[in-house]
Amino acid sequence: MSEGFHFEVARCDGSARTGAIETPRGKIRTPAFMPVGTAATVKAMRPEAVKALGADIVLANTYHLMLRPGAERIAELGGLHKFMNWPWPILTDSGGFQVMSLAKLRKLDENGVTFQSHIDGARHLLTPERSMEIQDLLGADIQMQFDECVRLPCSEEEARRAMLLSLRWAERSQTAFAARPGRALFGIVQGGASESLRIESAKALMGMGFDGYALGGLAVGEPQEIMLAMIECAMPHLPHEKPRYLMGVGAPDDLLESVRRGIDMFDCVMPTRAGRHGLAYTRLGRLNLRNARHAADPAPVDPLSDCAAARTYSRAYLHHLIKCGEILGMMLLTEINLAYYEGLMERARGAIAAGRFEAFCAETKEAWRGGEA
Ligand code: GUN
Repeated sequence: MSEGFHFEVARCDGSARTGAIETPRGKIRTPAFMPVGTAATVKAMRPEAVKALGADIVLANTYHLMLRPGAERIAELGGLHKFMNWPWPILTDSGGFQVMSLAKLRKLDENGVTFQSHIDGARHLLTPERSMEIQDLLGADIQMQFDECVRLPCSEEEARRAMLLSLRWAERSQTAFAARPGRALFGIVQGGASESLRIESAKALMGMGFDGYALGGLAVGEPQEIMLAMIECAMPHLPHEKPRYLMGVGAPDDLLESVRRGIDMFDCVMPTRAGRHGLAYTRLGRLNLRNARHAADPAPVDPLSDCAAARTYSRAYLHHLIKCGEILGMMLLTEINLAYYEGLMERARGAIAAGRFEAFCAETKEAWRGGEA
């Protein structure tokens, strides 16, 4: 474990666990939801407001920041924390996943990925070494190995090739990682929808010894039961005393089901992106505020929310703002949704600590039946 980075499980309830990661930039209470701050901003939110909602850490992306404004530029300006005025922990994704989903004319080989920027078409090369160099320049507290994620469904052969390549890239990432006090490097389990490949990947990564272990290549088009089966088969092969991070997940139900199986960390664009498109996550389930049935409804979005915006603004007003494309509508719904996600994690932590996680899941899911989706 890197010096200055320490994870402790305080309490287990079944396979669910609650604890904390201690870093020099602050404590990350787990299970944790990390708001996505792709381009050095959690879209439509001020950093102080993100913190006030209960987020202990945000995620930023190597891919976007290397293209604009450039990692060297951010380093010259004092690093990512200072640049975006977020002094608390930051996790950076390594870029491979975003290259495959966003960049044009990609060419992948043993060395890395050559691609054209989706912004201006310029050619770039991302390798494990360059990804780790960028994450070091940004100054991320938790850095991710460079990996290759395949879309599902895919053949076993293709999943195996990408998993083995990701293991070789894990070794290169580990060698290139600029270890500094308080900084951590996580490995990423790949293996598509194959239990045996997932187990092989988890065992090999554990043998290399990372500060934490992520599950990648999930929520990429497969049904929830496949995702949950992949979590279940990998878990026994990952060390109990290290954090486990499920990448890019998910809907509130995915979070509960994954926490139940032992996941400690999540990130997802869902609450922020959905907010910009008029969807609200509430204790009563998901609401689509674009829907005409909200046009004359004076009720607040969620009278039970801890979030003042959810208790204050009417569904009719938010419907109006979103229909008009007003920026305030996106700001309010982003805040409401992140407050919901952070509150869900807080309540999950409390329920695990109290040994009543199963009851908490049942009550939470029952309440969602009041929503629309
Ligand atoms: N984000 C969501 N899934 C993945 C993945 O498989 N790899 C990486 N690096 N990031 C992800």
